[in-house]
Amino acid sequence: MDKHEEIARTKTACIETARLKTAQLTYILHAVVVALLLIQDGLAQSPGVPSLPTTTADYVGYAVDNLPSYFQPGSDVGDVNNTPIDNPITNAGATLGRALFYDGRLSHNDSTSCASCHKQENGFSDPDQLSVGFEGGLTGRHSMGLSNAAFYENGRFFWDERAATLEDQVLMPIQDSVEMGTDLNQLREELSATEFYPVLFNEAYGSTEITNDKIANSLAQFVRSMASYQSKFDDARAAGPVGSPAYRAELTQLERQGSNIFHGAGRCSTCHESDAQIADRPHNIGLDADNSADEGVVDGRFKVPSLRNVAVREGYMHDGRFMTLGEVIDFYSTDIQDNPNLDVGLQVDGDNPIRFNFTQNEKDALIAFLETLTDDALLGTELFSDPFVELAGDFDGSGLVDAADLEYWQDSAGSGFYFLEWQRNLGRSWEDLAAGSIITNAIPEPSVAVLTATALLCSIGVCRRRFQT
Ligand code: HEC
Ligand code: HEC
Repeated sequence: MDKHEEIARTKTACIETARLKTAQLTYILHAVVVALLLIQDGLAQSPGVPSLPTTTADYVGYAVDNLPSYFQPGSDVGDVNNTPIDNPITNAGATLGRALFYDGRLSHNDSTSCASCHKQENGFSDPDQLSVGFEGGLTGRHSMGLSNAAFYENGRFFWDERAATLEDQVLMPIQDSVEMGTDLNQLREELSATEFYPVLFNEAYGSTEITNDKIANSLAQFVRSMASYQSKFDDARAAGPVGSPAYRAELTQLERQGSNIFHGAGRCSTCHESDAQIADRPHNIGLDADNSADEGVVDGRFKVPSLRNVAVREGYMHDGRFMTLGEVIDFYSTDIQDNPNLDVGLQVDGDNPIRFNFTQNEKDALIAFLETLTDDALLGTELFSDPFVELAGDFDGSGLVDAADLEYWQDSAGSGFYFLEWQRNLGRSWEDLAAGSIITNAIPEPSVAVLTATALLCSIGVCRRRFQT
């Protein structure tokens, strides 16, 4: 064998060893990932338990008593309040609504809550064009923002207004085959099986019995409580009526210019009315030349939610076709289509679609004004935030650490670690959480422990092979 041949052989051998090692490593990595997935799946936790404040959350104060004068009964906004006489907002009712709104139990596989598609930081809408339902399917339309849902005169809900009341609407996503896919009978049973829902229903309705009407009423109370009245626009409006010197003094030059266009030549406020920027009824704004893609209510007419917080909830119009406010303004400026059912408010010279032809400066001004409608108080307050936390050791999410939780752990993996933690938390209930005295995982979570052990074993295996070869 000559020298060249020998070098070539050694080279091939080296490459072969390297290839083998890479393959081994890949297998090990796969094994770790599979183990991790199995462990996570086995320990799939239920949606958790609500950690609610010890003193009653004041929804009545926030959404009824403290409303500014221009939202109170007798004002343009107050007079279109759709709260029914038999379901006024109560603190206990809206508190129950908060738990339901954030609870994955409302979906068939516990994966999806109302908040999955109505996110507080996005004005209770979804920044995605379409939302993902409980089994990964997409909704047919864009999720709607919920700020100021209480203030819509005919009280109908959805882009096509198919729900006659909010109380009717809130039960629909729960049963929708794409959104949450749950049967209401099953849901009532699942809620009854927890420690906390019977208590919350009792606080709200004086009885632990769970009914569809009570679920609907409390969800509706929670949604109606999402009043938006603490934006920069409100600071200006509180100083004086729209357009007055006191109002104008609170805004920048660009915002003032935008307000002028919105309430004047741009015609925006003829449909996005009042100090809550709410619609009066559905309209066809000529998004398309015909209505074949979606008829909406009828003839391509759609409801529009209040423009409050519009700047933080990208994905605009019923199909979420525009991703930025700039695109929305461009549309109104030059792209309104000659739809046979186009609203007269957007027509000019007989029945032609209007061409506002906004200058860049006017477009910037309109966007600056729309940005004054962002209400950080509503987007940040705990009243509407996710109350769910994990109660350490409460694997089945019932709200009580009990014998069932130990069995659950033994069934799924079996490890000495968890027994200790279960023991330390035994008897703790969701109500202890309000006091903020959660006993955290001082001992590593079982999944972490098993994972660390697997990783250690794997690396020992790799090292030994390395020394052998
Ligand atoms: C998978 C996403 C998804 C889930 C989950 C979901 N929604 Fe929605 N929501 C939407 C979409 C999309 C629309 C608009 C649908 C349409 O108009 O056809 C909507 C519309 C609404 C509206 C109408 C607003 C208006 O002004 O007319 C309300 C209210 C509402 N949802 C509340 C809820 C509540 C309460 C829950 C939980 C019980 C919930 N949603 C669960 C996606 C979702
Ligand atoms: C003729 C009534 C009408 C006029 C005038 C009007 N709008 Fe609209 N607006 C609507 C309707 C209806 C929708 C929802 C349409 C749809 O989704 O099909 C809408 C949607 C919007 C949206 C998206 C809201 C969301 O939640 O997706 C914005 C932003 C908006 N309009 C701003 C404006 C501005 C700015 C003007 C003035 C230049 C204006 N509108 C003029 C009726 C009107």
